[in-house]
Amino acid sequence: MRKLQKGDLLEVTIDKLVSGGEGLGKVFGYPVFVPGGLPGDHGAVEMVSVKKDYGRGLMVQRWDDGPTRVVPPCPLTESCGGCQWQHLDYPAQLENKRALLIETLSRLGKLPEVELENWVKAPLGMQDPWRYRNKGQFPFQTIEGQARGGFFAPRSHTLVPIQDCLIHPPAMNAALNQVEAALNQLNIPIYDEKTHSGFLRHVLIRESTTHPQILVGLVTRDWEHPALAALVEKLSLEIPNLVGLVQNRNPEPGNRILGRETRTLWGKDSLKESLGDLHFSISLPSFFQVNSQQTVVLYETINSLAELSGSETVVDAFAGAGTIGLWLAKQAKQVYCLESVNEAIADGKINRALNQIENLEFRQGVVEKLLPDLLAQTKADLVILDPPRKGCEPAVLASLIRSEVPKVIYVSCNPATLARDLALLAEHYEISAIQPIDLFPHTHHLETVVLLTRGGADQAAPNEPPTS
Ligand SMILES: C[S@@+](CC[C@H](N)C(=O)[O-])C[C@H]1O[C@@H](n2cnc3c(N)ncnc32)[C@H](O)[C@@H]1O
Repeated sequence: MRKLQKGDLLEVTIDKLVSGGEGLGKVFGYPVFVPGGLPGDHGAVEMVSVKKDYGRGLMVQRWDDGPTRVVPPCPLTESCGGCQWQHLDYPAQLENKRALLIETLSRLGKLPEVELENWVKAPLGMQDPWRYRNKGQFPFQTIEGQARGGFFAPRSHTLVPIQDCLIHPPAMNAALNQVEAALNQLNIPIYDEKTHSGFLRHVLIRESTTHPQILVGLVTRDWEHPALAALVEKLSLEIPNLVGLVQNRNPEPGNRILGRETRTLWGKDSLKESLGDLHFSISLPSFFQVNSQQTVVLYETINSLAELSGSETVVDAFAGAGTIGLWLAKQAKQVYCLESVNEAIADGKINRALNQIENLEFRQGVVEKLLPDLLAQTKADLVILDPPRKGCEPAVLASLIRSEVPKVIYVSCNPATLARDLALLAEHYEISAIQPIDLFPHTHHLETVVLLTRGGADQAAPNEPPTS
């Protein structure tokens, strides 16, 4: 038989979705990844890359649709890299996220699949899974002489301009369009990553879900441009509910969005958001969960699994602006929030004052150093880990194990690194509950909360998380 080549057409039926959101089918045992393919889709796939053990191809003709395929409401969904699963029915998105989580924890974490079927609950999803983002991050490029903002196409830096993204609220889309129009009117040069020239790189927009407030951030290669003052004036007059316009300077080439320095150009440097009974001030560089409604579900799940009585010492590691710690503080004796970003700690201190919470202390630095030091001085009853996508360094996990912390709640936005870290923790802890929460509808991303206890005291009766 002739060796498979790029450009060949194959008949493929998609068997399942894989992490990253692509479909996977097999042709005579050879795995073929198909972006946009859904289970049950059957058609002709043109191979775009052929490797020894697997290939990737595009379904150029679909003869049969899988049973969970729906018509995506956004016309850009096939070209835009923002959403991967708008064409997948929402209940099926949740089922697939659970299946993928189990598969990842089993394959990379070596956790037993039979047990995982019991541990992993059905993901908590949204009733109305649209317009949910409280923050947009929009790269800009020059297209046909015009400044355009949008998203990159999958696996590329080709910009897909957007007008009305359905996972961002209308006022945020309108603000983006206003920034785009103003940049064009004032002829402000857009950054070109190939030549590392031009001024404006990204526009970040935060919109509060509880206050009529919008914060706009301009990420620029340098601080100054002759038309910057005119841009600031124009946007401050034109964007409804704008509370602040800030500038972040990123002079470095590369994919990192934010640089180290931020300054306020007009108004305030932060906006207000409320979750449950708590009030938060959020500045541009601070981490804040992007889906406010589901963040309440996430934090209530953590609260319910924590089962605090008021006498406990709690550590919120990778704390951002201290939101989880603040959520738990009224039920605990003392909370320590560990975080590396200065602006997040500054926001956290404002949030602590806003909510009149006195039993919460921030420590600035890296968790790898702060956590072992803290656990050497203080007996913690509960440690919450909410690391970035890369997960925890071994030193962090080792310090928990060494200090025999009785209860750990691991909050993860990346099943692969969660699996790696659980493989280590499961040697010393019982996994008592795994609750996925859908913070990112229409994308393949998933948030997961895992309760780990020493000695398995809680294993027989995992808590049912609340639904609101
Ligand atoms: C996924 S966010 C969690 C934020 C917070 N728990 C929340 O729910 O809003 C991870 C946070 O960890 C911080 N971070 C990343 N690496 C860190 C490290 N090595 N030490 C301390 N903080 C770190 C980031 O700045 C970010 O605020």
